[in-house]
Amino acid sequence: MKIFITGGAGYIGSHTCVEFLNLDHDVVVYDNFCNSNYETLQRVESITHKTVTLVEGDIRDEDALCKAMVGCDAVIHFAGLKAVGESVEKPLEYYDNNVQGTLCLLRAMRTNNIKKLVFSSSATVYGNPQKLPLTEDHPLTTTNPYGQTKLMVEEILRDLYKSDSTWCVSILRYFNPIGAHESGLIGEDPKDMPNNLMPFIAQVAVGRRDYLSVYGDDYATPDGTGIRDYIHVVDLAQGHVKALESLVVPQYTVVNLGTGMGYSVLDMVKVFSEVSGKEIPYRIVPRREGDIASCYADPTLAKKTLGWQASRTFKQMCQDSWNFQSKNPHGLNV
Ligand code: NAD
Ligand code: UFG
Repeated sequence: MKIFITGGAGYIGSHTCVEFLNLDHDVVVYDNFCNSNYETLQRVESITHKTVTLVEGDIRDEDALCKAMVGCDAVIHFAGLKAVGESVEKPLEYYDNNVQGTLCLLRAMRTNNIKKLVFSSSATVYGNPQKLPLTEDHPLTTTNPYGQTKLMVEEILRDLYKSDSTWCVSILRYFNPIGAHESGLIGEDPKDMPNNLMPFIAQVAVGRRDYLSVYGDDYATPDGTGIRDYIHVVDLAQGHVKALESLVVPQYTVVNLGTGMGYSVLDMVKVFSEVSGKEIPYRIVPRREGDIASCYADPTLAKKTLGWQASRTFKQMCQDSWNFQSKNPHGLNV
């Protein structure tokens, strides 16, 4: 198949490109590099010994999209802005990029008669969990503009499918992706100050930051710090392969991609410190606004409908993140 991957130069996108290239699919990456770089795609090529077709462009440019996707069979849509805090500061930019961009993409797909789509959604659409583990039928709500964009796109896709039931749509609600490709060539490489826990810890371990701020130790969890369902990015990437393979008949499917296991902030500090051999100094600071105590998936549906389940352990995730960070102490932007 020829697969059109928006945001394919980013963290999850680049790992997904590797999985599809390894299966001999053709990959067209469409990215504006607002949060990524060319070097990543060169590394994808050196891992796979395959060539990626790159079209540099913005998903809000419908004409450019239309031209770029000619001849493609399916679309995997990663492109978007993803920083929760920034979305509160700049809601219009988030709605424009994530919602308007997706509308342009869907129109371009319709023009080209491409009706297979895998979309990156997020566990953020569950809001503050009413019950755990989270199943796909949990009520949906959001607490910030980023989450709202994910929910709006899910609803747009549902309406699109209702209006034309020849579409094949797979919505993947990711839990917390961490880890890196085992080569250490690609991984999470934030351009600015990391917003998320793992890249922050990795930068402390490599000496780029002095200490980790732990956002609260008074949650109702065993050690008081927040619990999340961390999933290895390669498992996540393989979930996209399974999702696309499942789109052989028209459908609108929503599945969680998580492991079903929860780890706390202090669990990550401990395991990362063990695998890296580095001390991770940390300070307990007040809770971060909008954070929840615990969040983890019920991954049963993904196993049932996609034949997919995560296989890599939490320790492996920490090891692979450290492998990438220690081989690329300043990231790929230097
Ligand atoms: P990322 O920032 O590394 O990758 C996104 C890519 O999209 C980047 O290469 C960026 O340059 C590109 N992009 C952004 N806006 C664009 C536009 N207008 N036109 C063209 N390209 C554009 O992020 P990621 O972690 O790989 O996330 C991928 C997707 O998964 C996003 O939609 C994100 O919201 C979603 N998601 C991520 C997480 C996570 O924790 N990483 C969790 C849940 C969902
Ligand atoms: N945390 C810290 N210090 C930090 C960063 C995070 O203590 O410097 C804590 C948080 O309070 C939380 C846990 O580490 O308890 C995980 O935080 P992340 O920011 O790594 O992840 P979140 O669960 O808050 O959010 C991420 C993405 C969202 C996405 C969600 C579910 O940022 O966009 O996972 O997929 F919606």
